[in-house]
Amino acid sequence: MAKKVILSGMQPSGKLHIGNLEGALANWVRLQNDYDMYCCIVDWHALTAHADETADLDDRIVQMAIDYLAAGLDPKKCAIFIQSQVKEHAELHLLFSMIIPTPWLERVPSYKEKVEKLGLDSYGFLGYPLLQAADILLYRADFVPVGKDQVPHIELTREVGRRFNGIFGEVFPDPQSLLTKIPVVPGIDGQKMSKSYGNEITIAEKPEETEAKVKKMFTDPLKLRKGDPGRPEICPVFALHQLYTPQAEIDRIDTECRSGALGCVACKKQLADDINKALEPIRSRRAALESDIDFVNDMLEDGANRARVRAQETMAMVREKMNLR
Ligand code: TRP
Repeated sequence: MAKKVILSGMQPSGKLHIGNLEGALANWVRLQNDYDMYCCIVDWHALTAHADETADLDDRIVQMAIDYLAAGLDPKKCAIFIQSQVKEHAELHLLFSMIIPTPWLERVPSYKEKVEKLGLDSYGFLGYPLLQAADILLYRADFVPVGKDQVPHIELTREVGRRFNGIFGEVFPDPQSLLTKIPVVPGIDGQKMSKSYGNEITIAEKPEETEAKVKKMFTDPLKLRKGDPGRPEICPVFALHQLYTPQAEIDRIDTECRSGALGCVACKKQLADDINKALEPIRSRRAALESDIDFVNDMLEDGANRARVRAQETMAMVREKMNLR
């Protein structure tokens, strides 16, 4: 039986952090064995917020592609490609725009929020989720691995597909969100790890940088020195131990933090060591790829060629149903 199809998408934010790694990438790496995978770097989506900030866009794309490969995405199993290299995304988006009522887009929660908060008001920004629907439906994807925040976009995608199928005839399957239990990855300040907060630990950084950042991490504010009892459940350092430290050690840290026997300095040192140890193989693959950018660019081109085959198949069906030549 043919494998089910997965389409995943990520904005080209540049070098990825361990929140991206644990939340999305590690999951994709597992999925690539069982599905036909398309990993789309959505550079057009990046323009919906800052169309004029493109000076380093290409570099952000390449750096992200390097992180994908270093983390273990296998370009033989998964077509990694840049959205703007497969023009069919734009064609399908345009055709969808003819059949989708504007209020469907105005109702999307992220739209209202960002209009108010960021003052975004472009036509393209309103169309953001419709472009995302085109990304997904262009591959007739069965599954889309996303975080909870994207669920409204996947729901809209299904409505768009159904509306097309209803008007012109069956082309698109109903894509489902693949919600993975994404661990909450706090940044060094205890908020959700995010590039926009500047609180991230990146895959690409040097072990010393990671160590310096972990040293600065927030901890239980009531534990001021070794000897004070701490509360691991509110401590971001402890939350990261959950991801990078062996279970037996976590149990010991929990006990000794609560009793006061363990101080934050030693606890952080261990965390930095454990993160660095886990990232070591990824970082060394990354360094090798950095010195072979031609390989990365060829890989992206090959990925786009393969994505295009599937995209063109879909567009042939769409045009036929719509009586377009
Ligand atoms: N909106 C997604 C995000 O912000 C990015 C995205 C664009 C996407 N197109 C997609 C995600 C298609 C999954 C599938 O994370």
